[in-house]
Amino acid sequence: MADYFDSNGTPTYRDSPAPTYQEVIASDPVAAPARLRQTHPAHIEIPRVPRERYTSQDFFDREKERMWSRTWQVACRVEEVGEVGDCVLYDSPGAALIIMRSAPDVIKAFYNGCLHRGMKLCASDTSLNRIRCPYHGMTWNLDGSLQNLPARWDFDPVADSELALPEARVGIWGGFVFVNRDPDAPSLEEYLGPLIDEFADWSRDDVYLATRVTKVLNANWKCCMEAFIEAFHVAELHSQALPFGGDASTQYDVWGENGNVSRFCEPTGIPSDQYPTPITEAEIWKATFGAVTGDTNNVPPLPEGKTARGFLADMNRTELGRIFGEDFSHLTDAEACDPIQYSVFPNFILFKGLPYPFAYRFVPVGDSPDHTRFDFMIFRPKPKDGSDFPYVDQIDLGPNDTYADSGAFQPWHGLIYDQDCQNLGLQQEGLKAGGVKNVMFSRYQEVRLRFLHQTLMTYLEMKPMN
Ligand code: FES
Ligand SMILES: [Fe+2]
Repeated sequence: MADYFDSNGTPTYRDSPAPTYQEVIASDPVAAPARLRQTHPAHIEIPRVPRERYTSQDFFDREKERMWSRTWQVACRVEEVGEVGDCVLYDSPGAALIIMRSAPDVIKAFYNGCLHRGMKLCASDTSLNRIRCPYHGMTWNLDGSLQNLPARWDFDPVADSELALPEARVGIWGGFVFVNRDPDAPSLEEYLGPLIDEFADWSRDDVYLATRVTKVLNANWKCCMEAFIEAFHVAELHSQALPFGGDASTQYDVWGENGNVSRFCEPTGIPSDQYPTPITEAEIWKATFGAVTGDTNNVPPLPEGKTARGFLADMNRTELGRIFGEDFSHLTDAEACDPIQYSVFPNFILFKGLPYPFAYRFVPVGDSPDHTRFDFMIFRPKPKDGSDFPYVDQIDLGPNDTYADSGAFQPWHGLIYDQDCQNLGLQQEGLKAGGVKNVMFSRYQEVRLRFLHQTLMTYLEMKPMN
């Protein structure tokens, strides 16, 4: 393993004239936090995987039986079940769960099917004072204990304890409610491992879910995850970011063999190594400002001695400080302008960094290898005085609705997601085109994809859970 890396942790086969992320942040005026100055490189020998992993119903069913049944997944935010009785539904392959605040400090996850004849107990996110089946009226208390079995005389004798609603495990971290259906799975803390330390200085407890934008994408869930954990595609698919997107300078980190957590650090204000000509800092700044504001005519001049990246960081600290009513002057340039992005196997992505108060979740729809719901979560700081914050603003985009016009994003930012999501539908079609059996992954820029498949296969080699 060590042979693949130089003394800075950069793979020896990385042969790009673009600076590494570590070189970029070493040139920033203030040293980035220690966690960003570390590398966690990996070389993973998975150069190719079969295309049928993305398209086959059999493969999907194996994932359902062996992987989705055993992994910790984000079901909702704690603030979505803020009051006793509040409940939110979370469906993932093989199970449908009701996430319920059953007591002030207890959140439970009940299977959303009646113990009598299987009726769906709860049809939508709501607030309840008991769980009552709409078919024959079997009823449970909010803690899942049986309240009433109508015409009990008509059933074979059965103890109340056998009629409690079955539960999945619940774990809470960073304001996210995670669920896991496997009684033998590691604890959430063990599963998240390095993520907990990595976010020790960037709490997600002090924010609330302000907006959730959902859209069904016509692609396999892994295509969706993979599209957002590499920066390789930026140069081609988001070519507007070629002068400043830092694609080839992005650092990819992976924790542990067959682990669950990986990261990239993508430096903003650094041109792609695919950018065709030498470019000055003033030109990089012009392209950056134009892309993030949509205004190419009124670009403020780059101050003498400032880099484009440094000036963007200044702008973000000031502007976002004004919008959020907070003082961000202590944040380093890396924290103020770079997408620092973590993924948790199988389907969760969480950002660190000032301009990206985001998380993504990808959930297969209707047991289909071809359809995935993309839940885009946007956070805002909780009011400092402890006052109430508004309930999540839910925006459901239809097939022809765009992120750019959704109202949740600035148009330049929405455009990026429109490019990604349109692309994914076409990728899913191309995966079925025939001609070759496999997709292939690059070694450096797509190491997180290799990692995802490595972890996935450890689950698929297990026996089905039930
Ligand atoms: S199916 Fe629920 S009470 Fe009959
Ligand atoms: Fe993208």
